Amino acid sequence: MSERKTTTASRPGGYTTPVGIDRSQQQAADWSTVKLLGDTVRPHSTSEIRHVHPNYSKHKPDTRLYIGDCREILPRLPDQGEVDLVFADPPFNWEVPYDGWEDNMPRNEFERFTFDWLDACINILSPTGAIWVSIPDDTAAEVVVHLKRRGLTMINWCVWHFRFGQCRDASFIMSKVHALYFVKDPTNRIWNPDDILEQSDRATIYNDKRTHEKEKNKGMRVPMDVWYGKYWGRIQGNNKERRQGHHNQNPEVYLERIILACTNEGDIVLDPFAGSGTTSTVAHEHNRCSISVEHSEINAESAWERISKIGMIRKNCSFGQSSAIFNKR
Ligand SMILES: C[S@@+](CC[C@H](N)C(=O)[O-])C[C@H]1O[C@@H](n2cnc3c(N)ncnc32)[C@H](O)[C@@H]1O
Repeated sequence: MSERKTTTASRPGGYTTPVGIDRSQQQAADWSTVKLLGDTVRPHSTSEIRHVHPNYSKHKPDTRLYIGDCREILPRLPDQGEVDLVFADPPFNWEVPYDGWEDNMPRNEFERFTFDWLDACINILSPTGAIWVSIPDDTAAEVVVHLKRRGLTMINWCVWHFRFGQCRDASFIMSKVHALYFVKDPTNRIWNPDDILEQSDRATIYNDKRTHEKEKNKGMRVPMDVWYGKYWGRIQGNNKERRQGHHNQNPEVYLERIILACTNEGDIVLDPFAGSGTTSTVAHEHNRCSISVEHSEINAESAWERISKIGMIRKNCSFGQSSAIFNKR
């Protein structure tokens, strides 16, 4: 068998369009026919359509926060087809004591809930938009299949390695969340690799002169698809970013990397599960407009304080650094 090595570095999309796979193979799967458990439950139906008003808002950049169930709020927003980036970190159905949200649905209802909010996000996303879903092992496969059967294309299946997991002895310690990156159009998407570069291992460990002979971005590279590092741990204990009373708060660097890579200044970022407001806080500091939805009034009040008064603690810490795990050779 002949060995062929792919040398191009500019593949249009990660997994569905790798070099070496021809179109007939790509089109072989008709994802719309794939059935999942959540399909046995009737989709959520919103009550009569009317406009909703933000509970908190400010201008320059336009920033809005709505209180309610995102399945009810999203279809009523005037921004249908205009959002450039969705970042969603939903409840995982792990019985987390969110304020007022029952996080323990029967599995089929949880899948239906997941498909319903995903559909609402797809409808509000612009034709050049991207959706990122932060989801653990037990629901990642269903999210991937649903997005594929809705016609979206996977660009990357990233992993956020948060390192500090709860100790256990019946299985390996869970230390990651999947960060699924999908777009509506892989040939026309917003992608700013130069804004998120990190130091290359060739420069920091291997002393490989090839990285300094490149025409641009010498010693730097686009980050790998497994994300970890100094500011990438779970937000707990005495972490300076920590907002009291919030469960599963994301680190600012996680959102900063995604927002800088997938939007430009003035674009619209949407988070259907605002929590402590990490997404809007980062979007606001980087001059992006944002729309957030949060079910809990208490969480929303705290998120708005963070977005409008406190701001980022680790601005610009998601790029320019090294993720090397060995010292220089
Ligand atoms: C995993 S947390 C999000 C954490 C957030 N990424 C952060 O960095 O703080 C999920 C949030 O979604 C909210 N939530 C749960 N169900 C919701 C729904 N149907 N619509 C809107 N918000 C919801 C919960 O109250 C909780 O604050």
